[in-house]
Amino acid sequence: MSALLVLNGPNLNLLGTRQPEVYGHATLADVEAMCVAHGEARGVHVTCRQSNHEGALVDAIHAGKGTFDGIVLNAGAYTHTSIALHDAIAGTGMPVVELHLSNIHARESFRHTSLIAPVAVGMICGFGAAGYSLALDALIGHLGGTA
Ligand code: DQA
Repeated sequence: MSALLVLNGPNLNLLGTRQPEVYGHATLADVEAMCVAHGEARGVHVTCRQSNHEGALVDAIHAGKGTFDGIVLNAGAYTHTSIALHDAIAGTGMPVVELHLSNIHARESFRHTSLIAPVAVGMICGFGAAGYSLALDALIGHLGGTA
């Protein structure tokens, strides 16, 4: 059975109350429960983590090597700024599907650049919380599963 990590970055702990017109009404707990259930339906074990701290996200990617087969990563605002996260993905070689609830390309110009994208398998954005299921399926498919 594959083991996948769903890793959420800064401010995603505020889901449900944070700009619901942009990010929806589902809480982080809702999203994580949905990810675990979606994984179970696909025969995949999903673990969820969230941190507001860049270094903790780097550590989670490093620790993921050897523990998980791949990562669904919503790096939040660090997407647009973090060379450290870019380097952690490149340095570990972990397969990462980048995920955003909102369509970052339809928002402020500072969100149009992703430092994750060049080292990601691919990106899903703009589908709200449903994007996590899409990202998990994309990752499972990339890893050679049946999704
Ligand atoms: C986000 C988009 C980012 O630009 C933003 O900083 C976030 C959330 C999203 O899921 O749409 O925190 O990653």
